[in-house]
Amino acid sequence: MAELAAKRDHDVRWEDGRAFGAVYDGGPGVREIAERAASLYLHENALNTRAFPSLGQIQSETVSWTAGLLHGPETTSGFLTSGGTESILCGVKAARERARAERGIDAPEIVLASSAHAAFHKGAHLFGLTVRKAPVRDDWTADVDAMAELVNDNTALIVGSAPQYPQGVIDDIPAIAALAASVGASCHVDACMGGFVLPFAEMLGRTVAPWDFRVEGVTTISAEIHKLGYAPKGVSVILHRTKELRKYQTFVFDDWLGGFYASPNLQGTRSGLPMAAAWAVMQYLGIDGYKGLVETTLANADEMRAGVNAIDGLRVLGEPTFQLLAIAADPGHDDPIDVFALADALDQRGWHLDRQTPPDSLHATVSNSNAGVMGDYLAALAAAVDDVRGQRAEDRSTSYSTAD
Ligand SMILES: Cc1ncc(COP(=O)(O)O)c(C=O)c1O
Repeated sequence: MAELAAKRDHDVRWEDGRAFGAVYDGGPGVREIAERAASLYLHENALNTRAFPSLGQIQSETVSWTAGLLHGPETTSGFLTSGGTESILCGVKAARERARAERGIDAPEIVLASSAHAAFHKGAHLFGLTVRKAPVRDDWTADVDAMAELVNDNTALIVGSAPQYPQGVIDDIPAIAALAASVGASCHVDACMGGFVLPFAEMLGRTVAPWDFRVEGVTTISAEIHKLGYAPKGVSVILHRTKELRKYQTFVFDDWLGGFYASPNLQGTRSGLPMAAAWAVMQYLGIDGYKGLVETTLANADEMRAGVNAIDGLRVLGEPTFQLLAIAADPGHDDPIDVFALADALDQRGWHLDRQTPPDSLHATVSNSNAGVMGDYLAALAAAVDDVRGQRAEDRSTSYSTAD
């Protein structure tokens, strides 16, 4: 155990609010509840809900709470998955099956913008769909006119993000959903980042562009409990507008010596731990708890954006208004900052931000984890900018990777 504890020494210190993303800390009360639920369900297996009916109930209650939050009609149904990527893969697979069953499409295509999460490309790769990729507009939202040009009789799925990861802006979901409906395709809204932020932001009186099931034509939504839902890792939700649409996601096989096999997502054996921890965190927080966390998060993000824009030579890309932002060099500056050199200087000061490109920028997902640290962070950022003026980092690699 000592060796294991020592291994963590070089990991980012998320407990001190120094990670902008990756770990979402709802505070000591949330952590304690999650840990208690996790130890209760450490060994349980959701593979067979006949043996573990409690996990069937936990799944159904968690899914229906989320469906209510996202204004799903009575018919909305869904499943828990292991994360955003798996929810997206399930959405892609369901769209492919639906296109085949309802429209006879055997060469299915996905239309998305260059900002849509890479998991959609993974889904296309795994499930044999062709990707048609449109650019983004100057405000970083998907260029829906360009997407319309890519839609054809083989379009199985059209994707919108609420918000997209790289710059944190919400796509024009009503236009994307209408485009999908016009050809009978599915429309997936990726709310892995927004699912547990936007509903509460709206309750707090913030302006939130339409994005959830209130938008006609949206067929599936992915929403992440293990991000801003503040549950520990390994749990996300995929919602379908109807149970009929949900059936395209499940895999059923009835010709095996082991008996009838039915599986909702990509896993076989499924740990009960993340499911139970997510349920417990949701019960503990409820609407008011989440509203409080979102209020803190958005205040932090507003402070960070204002602080970044106030530093000579830096600017936030676009005008994101929720918890995400990308920090880039001000292109109009005489002596442009190299943000990768800036990331190195921040790392040395113990602050971690992911690097992304194009364009070169540093990505931040702000959350309740960063409450109380923003003053220190902005001071470190300003000092790091002064350190790296005129410098260029040799290492141009970006860091959204789990390959090593
Ligand atoms: C918008 C968006 N979609 C999907 C994902 C993938 O989620 P996960 O890392 O849980 O697989 C992310 C992760 O950051 C995301 O930001």
